[in-house]
Amino acid sequence: MTYARITGTGGYLPDKVLTNHDLEKMVDTTDQWIRERTGISKRHIARDGQYTVDLAEHAARRALEAAGRDAQDVDLIIVATTTPDRVFPSTACLLQKRLDRHGCAAFDIQAVCTGFVYALSVADKFVRTGSAKCALVVGAETLSRVLDWNDRSTCVLFGDGAGAVLLEASDEPGILSTHLHADGAYEHLLSVPGGVSQGYDSLNDGKGYVTMKGNEVFKVAVNTLGRIVDETLEANNLDKSAIDWLIPHQANIRIIQATAKKLKMSMDHVVVTVDEHGNTSGASVPLALDVAVRDGRIKRGETLLMEAFGGGFTWGSILLKY
Ligand code: UT7
Repeated sequence: MTYARITGTGGYLPDKVLTNHDLEKMVDTTDQWIRERTGISKRHIARDGQYTVDLAEHAARRALEAAGRDAQDVDLIIVATTTPDRVFPSTACLLQKRLDRHGCAAFDIQAVCTGFVYALSVADKFVRTGSAKCALVVGAETLSRVLDWNDRSTCVLFGDGAGAVLLEASDEPGILSTHLHADGAYEHLLSVPGGVSQGYDSLNDGKGYVTMKGNEVFKVAVNTLGRIVDETLEANNLDKSAIDWLIPHQANIRIIQATAKKLKMSMDHVVVTVDEHGNTSGASVPLALDVAVRDGRIKRGETLLMEAFGGGFTWGSILLKY
């Protein structure tokens, strides 16, 4: 049986750092409020002229290097992003050009904060069915570009960054199961309520920014992530104790703690980057994975559970042997 296995990871954060204290000078907030309610202390912000594809390229090159692969080995590129550089071509095509790789399939996936989980799940299907042998899967975001920097309820939460993995065909177990869900009935709770077909004016009329009913999103996120953990364990006939590492979407430390509690997992086995990165949407899971692989916490053969929840609503999980 062919599995899809992660053979390399990479991450990239822009140099520019915005601390909670910086935000205190911009909106009516405090470092204490942000830390207590979210766990965030700082986030990275793309500088002027630095785009999603720039972040994606750095992360992709690092993943290729970690896997000992060249861009020419890649036969599928998927970029999960909510903040593409252009209406078209896709950020995946722009990345493909940067990597000087011609001809392989390349496309974007838009599932907001669940984007990387969706993208990795799709890549898994390509690899398992033999349609691809070496997939580059990237989550890259410049969420700072869709934030209202006068709105304290959202601008303190997000950051920019990119994470990437190389996913290769293997006889050894890699991805064990993937679980994707969405419910568009919740679109009004978390949205950028403007866009191309509604006309560019809508983007310039205060509608081009993230709007969120934070505490309502919070409640649904906690319940939904608890359910998807159960669904993933049941599908694999596994007990909670079989999970070595939880790699959650990094939106809020309190949501992460609730999921860890549900799994009866010590926070020592949960990868947390929200304090340093904020919520980087589709980049948060691969960035967290890369951090814990590179610092030696995650080791080959360990069982990882990735999960995410975001706008749509979308949510999903992936169980894998690293
Ligand atoms: O990644 C996609 C999914 N997104 C999420 O999962 C985010 C889920 N939601 C959350 O993480 C939390 O709901 C937030 C961090 C967004 C907000 O925390 P909360 O504990 O739910 O606060 P709240 O929205 O209920 O607001 C409490 C108070 C309000 O003041 P009043 O009405 O009680 O006087 C807000 O106006 O906190 C106020 N507030 C702030 N105060 C200082 C809201 N934002 C800020 C701020 N600084 N930045």
